[in-house]
Amino acid sequence: MAFKAYVQVGKPNGTIIRRETQGQFAEHLGHCIYEGFYVGEDSAIPNVNGMRTDVVEAFKAIDTPILRWPGGCFADEYHWMDGIGPKEKRPKMINTHWGGVVEDNSFGTHEFFELCRQIGCEPYVSGNVGSGTVEEFSKWVEYMTSEGTPMAELRAKNGHEEPWHLKFFGVGNENWGCGGDMTPEYYADLARRYGTYARNYGTNQLYKIACGANGRNWEWTEVLMRKGTNGGRRGAFGALSLHEYVWWRKSHATEVSEDSWFSIQRDGFAYDSLLAGHDRIMTKYDPEKNIGLSFDEWGTWFPVEPGTNPGFLYQQNTMQDAVLAAIGLNIINAHADRVHVACIAQAVNVLQSMALTRGADMVLTPTYYVFKMFKNHQGAELCPTFVGAPEIKKGLESIPSLSVSASQRDGALLITIANASYDEDADVDFDLGGFRGMATAQILQHDAPNGHNDFDTPNEVAVKPYSGIATRMAGGFGGPVTLSGLIPARSVVAITVKPGRR
Ligand code: AHR
Repeated sequence: MAFKAYVQVGKPNGTIIRRETQGQFAEHLGHCIYEGFYVGEDSAIPNVNGMRTDVVEAFKAIDTPILRWPGGCFADEYHWMDGIGPKEKRPKMINTHWGGVVEDNSFGTHEFFELCRQIGCEPYVSGNVGSGTVEEFSKWVEYMTSEGTPMAELRAKNGHEEPWHLKFFGVGNENWGCGGDMTPEYYADLARRYGTYARNYGTNQLYKIACGANGRNWEWTEVLMRKGTNGGRRGAFGALSLHEYVWWRKSHATEVSEDSWFSIQRDGFAYDSLLAGHDRIMTKYDPEKNIGLSFDEWGTWFPVEPGTNPGFLYQQNTMQDAVLAAIGLNIINAHADRVHVACIAQAVNVLQSMALTRGADMVLTPTYYVFKMFKNHQGAELCPTFVGAPEIKKGLESIPSLSVSASQRDGALLITIANASYDEDADVDFDLGGFRGMATAQILQHDAPNGHNDFDTPNEVAVKPYSGIATRMAGGFGGPVTLSGLIPARSVVAITVKPGRR
């Protein structure tokens, strides 16, 4: 049985989906940095300057626009000076948040910028407000971005003469929790103080991201907008961060049931009201939407895979995650006027990853393929969409069955659609409002709700061409287009319509 649905795509509305909304997050946590991105120059695993080639190539292939580092909770315990200079002399520390392991600081500032250079993405560095001094915070910016200063001399001595370009700079992380357990009033004052000393050197202009709310803590946003961001005027901060995970604590990532599926997709759809709620408060102070939201931690959080370190947050990744990722990215697109940055958590081997590694092996996850299917939304102009489809009901709850967004770039229209139904296909008619062109489609789908890639079966789930979308042209070839076709249960489909022949 398939349910009937209707999707209407409007003309581009002038809002650009910023590239940085498809960002990634890499923390010193478990095997995200060490073994995930960084194996060291002497490793037998193919690498360039210590960065593993397979992983770097994978992130290049999805046009990764931005990478957030060094945390997370780790950021407010990180003392950047421990991570520069000769590696054998770098002090060690205990990573108290994540497994109590010894951090040898062999991956530090220089290595991070090298990783971003190889991937071709913008660096997003989070400064330490929770346990660091203003001086340390200020000198890090000087070290990274200045010329002709004492910190620039130190950087040159450590092998990098030229300043790096750094735009995105976080003023603490989760300072309402692991980053110092502060009240919003106290943090707002601290953010202004620390932010003051994060200087713009030469032509480098920082876009400072203050710590924003934990999920639906509206009060935090209210206080930060009132006290922390210069009354909502552009100046002190470019954005407030926002973190919200989709939790499922009853079973592991691969133990997918109708219950887990419903709960996860329901919480994914709830990202819409989360972003709308913070946007509403921000709009009171900043109606022109100069200050953005940086939704820089989102995604699923399951109990860790059996037999792995509970502090390493290692989880598998299935079609359940892929559909959630598509819902999340579609909703982020819909809020493109306020969401300037978004980073799924995290890039490799931690939470809802793009890639998992084991020794020299790497597998790409279903979530990775969603990012691949969505990458042409980056920098595109948002097209409003209207969806007419039945809701999925469970007990007294109901959620939408379809998640859709559309954008236009260089004359091509991209429609991304996820069917969140556990067992019903959607028979969809698309009205493209007079758009002309030829459609091609791709699909991410698996027979099993827990379809996933593992080291022995790395190609179980992958994006494939999809012939299930038919194009009709009113009045013959070249006329306005309508599309129709099946969006199977638990699948993600990307449709590209380009003017001219395929
Ligand atoms: O992503 C894992 C952790 O979740 C981050 O370190 C922290 O910011 C959040 O609580």
